[in-house]
Amino acid sequence: MVQNHQINAKDKLSVADELNNEKPSLRPKLLNDFIGQSQIKKNLTVFITAAKLRDSVLDHVLLSGPPGLGKTTLSDIIANEMAIKITSTSGPLLVKQGDLAAILTNLSENQILFIDEIHRMNRKIEEVLYSAMEDFKLDVIIGKGIGARTLKIDLPKFTLIGATTRMGMLSSPLRDRFGIPLRINFYQQKEILAIILRSAKIFNIKINIKAATEISRRSRGTPRIANRYLKRCRDFSLVAKEDMISEKLVKRALTELKVDEIGLDELDLTYLKTIAFTYDNAPVGINTLASALSEDKDTLEATCEPYLIQIGFLKKTAQGRILSDKALIYLGVTPPEEKQLNIPLVGNFKP
Ligand SMILES: Nc1ncnc2c1ncn2[C@@H]1O[C@H](COP(=O)(O)OP(=O)(O)O)[C@@H](O)[C@H]1O
Ligand SMILES: [Mg+2]
Repeated sequence: MVQNHQINAKDKLSVADELNNEKPSLRPKLLNDFIGQSQIKKNLTVFITAAKLRDSVLDHVLLSGPPGLGKTTLSDIIANEMAIKITSTSGPLLVKQGDLAAILTNLSENQILFIDEIHRMNRKIEEVLYSAMEDFKLDVIIGKGIGARTLKIDLPKFTLIGATTRMGMLSSPLRDRFGIPLRINFYQQKEILAIILRSAKIFNIKINIKAATEISRRSRGTPRIANRYLKRCRDFSLVAKEDMISEKLVKRALTELKVDEIGLDELDLTYLKTIAFTYDNAPVGINTLASALSEDKDTLEATCEPYLIQIGFLKKTAQGRILSDKALIYLGVTPPEEKQLNIPLVGNFKP
């Protein structure tokens, strides 16, 4: 499974961003500091409180949603709120069943195991998780052929937190074993604004409200992108020797970064234009698009498409991807319906 081990360009970017974030950390530590996602916070508070009252482990949690919306942050917050240890790994890092077995047998009672990109774990390894999640037991096969037998080893009680950008790629036996599935959606603009103002305070960045609002409008409802643009705007303001980030500077900086007025970046725009112009907005399959754009299919599906769907620019149909009229108008193309409407009208009014 070579694809499982690939780290694509956007993954690398996010890893780099996380490293930059280390000092001081932008990650909220407790649920109260986590901005937005009020329903998720409310539910989590109930489940965490109940687990503490019962003095038992929290049920397994599955966090799904596009990159940069706070899955890793939330898993750390859950550990902090429960005041327990968390061990983190990632689907692509687990190569053999033994890798996972070693991690599971080393857990301490009640702790959290976080598996990021859990959809990229291979099926053979995934099977180890079934009995571990359900009965806190590990099946070990001893011997080969007819003489082989299964030994059940007791594991400590633990909470598995899985994170995925691709809910659809998770097998249903695995998905069904999570008692608390949480879907994280894109943030509202005012929530992103609050996140930018919080980050500016932590980093001691001076920014006026109009400038922060402008960044929030272009951040695709994604905290990670908002924080990244804030930092890049700080760089631009430093070089321009302006001590307060202004709206004008934000506009200039984001134009330089090739981010348009509604927050679409170069990849988004190339994606949209490829469907609109190269394929004349006939339904296009994801594989065709990936090769036309020389991009990783997973990047397109996890990073690019969810936001375009969210803003009503893109529709997924059984035949393939197709743009909405709204997207065509945004690209300056007359949608076909209007063309059809215009022709008879013009014809009728001819003398
Ligand atoms: N609700 C939030 N409030 C404040 N900051 C957030 C929130 N969600 C995410 N962030 C910030 O955005 C960045 C990306 O979040 P992360 O948890 O790494 O996303 P994911 O794991 O979903 O890709 C983090 O550095 C964090 O500081
Ligand atoms: Mg993450």
